[in-house]
Amino acid sequence: MITMEKVGLDAIENASRDEISALQLERLKWSLAHAYENVPFYRESFKRHGVHPDDLSTLSDLRKFPFTTKADLRDNYPFGMFAVPREKVVRLHASSGTTGKPTVVGYTERDIATWSRVVARSIFASGGRPGDIVHVAYGYGLFTGGLGAHYGAEELGCTVVPVSGGMTERQVMLIQDFQPRVIMVTPSYMLSILDEFRRLGFDPRRSSIKVGIFGAEPWTNAMRQEIEEAFDMDAVDIYGLSEVIGPGVANECVETKDGLHIWEDHFYPEVVDPETGEPVADGEVGELVFTSLTKEAMPIVRYRTRDLTRLLPGTARAMRRMEKVTGRSDDMMIVRGVNVFPTQIEEQLLKCEGLAPHYWIELTRKGRLDGMVVHVECTADAAATDARAASARELASHIKSVIGVSTEIVVNDPGGVERSVGKARRVVDNRDSNR
Ligand code: DLL
Repeated sequence: MITMEKVGLDAIENASRDEISALQLERLKWSLAHAYENVPFYRESFKRHGVHPDDLSTLSDLRKFPFTTKADLRDNYPFGMFAVPREKVVRLHASSGTTGKPTVVGYTERDIATWSRVVARSIFASGGRPGDIVHVAYGYGLFTGGLGAHYGAEELGCTVVPVSGGMTERQVMLIQDFQPRVIMVTPSYMLSILDEFRRLGFDPRRSSIKVGIFGAEPWTNAMRQEIEEAFDMDAVDIYGLSEVIGPGVANECVETKDGLHIWEDHFYPEVVDPETGEPVADGEVGELVFTSLTKEAMPIVRYRTRDLTRLLPGTARAMRRMEKVTGRSDDMMIVRGVNVFPTQIEEQLLKCEGLAPHYWIELTRKGRLDGMVVHVECTADAAATDARAASARELASHIKSVIGVSTEIVVNDPGGVERSVGKARRVVDNRDSNR
């Protein structure tokens, strides 16, 4: 029951820190034992590190246990990480991966129920309510976005429109006709939907959409503002990864929009120094690591996400928050000695009048010098003027003064930057081909 003082969908969202920690400890003991007893990979890796599940008596003892990486999942392709007989696995998903075999994940019936519940909680925290129509434009299929959002919205008691990604004109028609209050989609694809609204002559601010639940890729607060203004809506961040469950590991609360509350009763977070692997204190930036607390089919112990963030105390909910993910360690570009994330470029781009929020970054090498070319496009209004050179200079100057790298800016016509239908590809590294 939701009462005046209580917040959230589930009672646990109002639990005290002590109650949450006690539950985590009990569940963590179960999860480590479950992994050890049923997955040869964990048994061997624990033994190699000289640890046993019985060695955990406090939450901080988790640091004694070995990490799990994406390479470990690949080595055990396809079903080697499962802790239950394959017949108990009711669903498979897989993450695409740029090279080689995908990483496969599995769910029991109870795992699907857990996942649906954390996504329902996420939609509720975002401002969605039972009875809302929810337009799901995350991709359906092996990717966890579409089906994860779908089951969560059904669990909350919403009417789900399972559109998946692509066919943007049809997306707009369905939004105009079905009048959803909530949309779940990647922020980059939301921008394509926005373009299409305008192209078709509809005013996006008068659309029925009031809540957007955006994730699966990094996006900035500047982008939040851009989308909120364009649609007159609340834009809220949802985080997750297939190895841990899918979307719904953490979600922002619409009342504060100050980072994502981690559903800590199911996923135990740590932030570690990416170089040494040592846990850092809450508040310090590092690599996010997760241990599942309740997953049956594929328990995961100390999984290195490669996502960079920091842990912060709870605000709108008792559970801790993670700051908006600035990027993955894999996405970090080193340009002439300066570390740059695509989100930093996004932030500067959105300050420039006359430029649209679409971009990609090309890394080049001329001789021995690394170069960065930022491909953007002008807005339809600016296209009629000759302001492009000035916009390019403005963006280059913001990037130089705030980030510290010199860039070449290419301002394309409206529509000149390829649109994403799912996760946007922000960086193309042409350094080898320019050699
Ligand atoms: O992207 C699950 C998901 C679907 C999350 C829909 C949210 C919404 P994977 O394909 O396994 O799963 O990719 C996981 O995407 O490690 C992050 O690098 C990135 N990511 C996901 N959500 C966010 C976010 C899904 N809100 C990887 N902000 C993660 C930044 C995100 N990056």
